[in-house]
Amino acid sequence: MERINVELGERSYPIYIMTDFSGLGSAFSKAGLRGKVMVVTDSNVSNLYLKACMEEITSTGVQTCSHVIEAGEKSKNLDTVKDIYRQLTDQRFDRNSAIVALGGGVTGDIAGFAAATYMRGIHYVQIPTSLLAQADSSIGGKTGVDFEGFKNMVGAFYQPRFVYININTLRTLPLRELRSGLAEVIKHGLIKDAGFYDFVRLKMQKIFEFDESTLQYITRTNCSIKKSIVEQDEKESGLRAILNLGHTIGHAVESVSGFELLHGECVAIGIAGAFRLARRMGMISKAVEEETESTLRDAGLPVKAANMEPQQIYAEMLHDKKAKEGKLSFILPKRIGEVINHTIDDRRLLMEVLEELVG
Ligand code: GLY
Repeated sequence: MERINVELGERSYPIYIMTDFSGLGSAFSKAGLRGKVMVVTDSNVSNLYLKACMEEITSTGVQTCSHVIEAGEKSKNLDTVKDIYRQLTDQRFDRNSAIVALGGGVTGDIAGFAAATYMRGIHYVQIPTSLLAQADSSIGGKTGVDFEGFKNMVGAFYQPRFVYININTLRTLPLRELRSGLAEVIKHGLIKDAGFYDFVRLKMQKIFEFDESTLQYITRTNCSIKKSIVEQDEKESGLRAILNLGHTIGHAVESVSGFELLHGECVAIGIAGAFRLARRMGMISKAVEEETESTLRDAGLPVKAANMEPQQIYAEMLHDKKAKEGKLSFILPKRIGEVINHTIDDRRLLMEVLEELVG
């Protein structure tokens, strides 16, 4: 068992890195959660881990219930949140109650948002079961839903009481989801830690073989990189934006695909786009651009937005909540392990890169 603390004053919390669920009850007790608990999970994860988690939580003497949502990004909307509110009110959940998000990034974002807003905020716990959620989305308190086709347009920063990662849940993750999560893992190396990036690049096969010590090291390093950024800039007024490498183009591609592409797949395409932009701007060499693309490809990730119109991607980028007065923010590499935030309003340059990306 490993424990990493996210230090945010009175909103501080531990991340437990575990190999099973046997420590969940004790994590609940340590957090002092004694009210009713609703476990929110999705239609895939419920068949795998709901029973084991409910048993562990119930063993602490609290009253538990569950709420199962349809798996997939298409559930990430206010209607799903309303269904959760309805069950919370029907079952008289109060300010001492807690919501547990058991699942991937979509479940975490929805359940976290319900917890942030029900009665102006009740406790919540993250039990991420996908690589994407374990590496990134379960840490740092970003919660929210999509709104009328716009990604994460409604949401709140709201920190969980603890994060409980069981790395062995990755064994039941569909391969496409595992690959999607690798995009966020590779991203962490690219923004902050060249040594970690090399480790991931060279140990890719071990990840696909679920080698426990490799997964443990990767999870620990991911959590450490993410927590150190969140500790310095909890609400993304500056530094935290570096976690958005690949997201300016990525979110637009995700919307254009009608959410058929997975988030990590879109981030991979966005990272390839950011490196293409940086190379055209003279910030990195062609060799660095090509090597990064080849790492993404080795992870089984797409680096091209096939069958999309550049103009459509550009229009979606302008609609993103991070766009300001027609100017787009991009996190661009200076070298592997270091990035900067760049505002670009050169439409021609952007269109040239988008043309390459769809080509
Ligand atoms: N997923 C990016 C962030 O948490 O800021």
